[in-house]
Amino acid sequence: MKIAIIGAGTMGSGIAQVVISANHDAILISEHQASVDRGMELVRTGFDKAIAKGRMAQEQKASFLSRITTSTSISDAKGAAVVIEAVPEELKTKLAVLSQVEKWVASDTIIATNTSSISIDALAQALKEPGRFIGLHFFNPAPVMKVIEVVEGGKTSKATLAAANAFAKSLGKTPVQVKDFPGFISNRILMIYINESINALQEGVATKEAIDAIAKLGFNHPMGPIELADFIGLDVCKDIMEAIYEQNKDPKFKPSDLLVKMVQQGRLGRKSKKGFYDY
Ligand code: CAA
Repeated sequence: MKIAIIGAGTMGSGIAQVVISANHDAILISEHQASVDRGMELVRTGFDKAIAKGRMAQEQKASFLSRITTSTSISDAKGAAVVIEAVPEELKTKLAVLSQVEKWVASDTIIATNTSSISIDALAQALKEPGRFIGLHFFNPAPVMKVIEVVEGGKTSKATLAAANAFAKSLGKTPVQVKDFPGFISNRILMIYINESINALQEGVATKEAIDAIAKLGFNHPMGPIELADFIGLDVCKDIMEAIYEQNKDPKFKPSDLLVKMVQQGRLGRKSKKGFYDY
C-alpha cells in the first residue's frame, strides 16, 4: 500500500519509519525541503538506533529506505490508500492541510490525523466526505511504542474504522479504539498525572528525582512523570492541557503554575536541552 505522511517532524518521520518497516511504501510530505531533509535524517538515525538495539538487521535498512520517497507538495498524496496528517497542533493548519488532501486522493482513501488534542469532529469539518476520516494517534517514539489510539469521530464510518484497525495491525501495532472526547483517553489521563506531579514538585512534597523514582521503581514505568514531561516537551504538555481545558472547561486540566513558568522561560525539556532536567 502507498501511505502518505504529511508533516516531517518527530511524529511524521517516526510514523514514516514504522510504515516502511512494515513493507508499505511511504511518501513523506512537508512544505519545505529543509523539513523533509530533517525528517529523512530522523528516519535514518531511527533505523540506526533500532540496529544498535538489535531490533532490526543492518541489511534491512537499505531495503526499507528504498520504500520511501519525499515531496513538498500535497498533490503527491495522490494514489495513497491512507494519508496520515502529522503537522503541528494548530486547528487552522490542520484544517487547511486536510481540505487540500481531499482534493488529490480517491474517494476510498482513508484520511487520518495524528492529533493528540484536537477534536476529530472539529477537524472533520474540513472534509466533504467526513466518513473516511479518523484519528490514528501514534505515541512517541512511534517506532518503539506498541499502541495506536484509534479515535472514532461522530461521522467516521464503520468501514473506515475497520480499515484503520486493519492498517494499524499491518504496522505491527495494537489498535485501541476510543471515542472523540477531549484528550481522548491517552492525554486525558496522562496530562492529569504529569500536571499533578509538577504540582507536587512545586509544593515541595518531593524532589523531581524522588517523584520519578516512585514511578519508575514503584509503578515500573520506563520514565518518571517529570522526565516524561521533558521528553514530550513542556510546551506540548501545556498546549495539550489548554486544548483539553478549552473543550471541557474542567479546571483540573489547567496547567500548573510551575509548568507555565518553565515554558515562559524557554525551558521546554529535552528539545531545548533544558527542562526540569538538563540535557
Ligand atoms: N526507531 C527509532 N528510535 C528508536 C528505536 C527505533 N526502532 N528503538 C529505540 N529507539 C530510540 C529510543 O527512543 C531511545 O531514544 P533516545 O536516545 O532519544 O532516548 C533510544 O533509541 C534508545 O532506545 P532504548 O529503547 O534502548 O532506550 P530506553 O530503554 O532508554 O527507552 C524509551 C527509551 C523508549 C523512550 C523509554 O524510556 C520509554 O518508553 N519511555 C516512555 C515513553 C512514553 O511514555 N511515550 C509516550 C509519550 S505520550 C505520547 O506520545 C502521546 C501524546 O500525545 C503526548
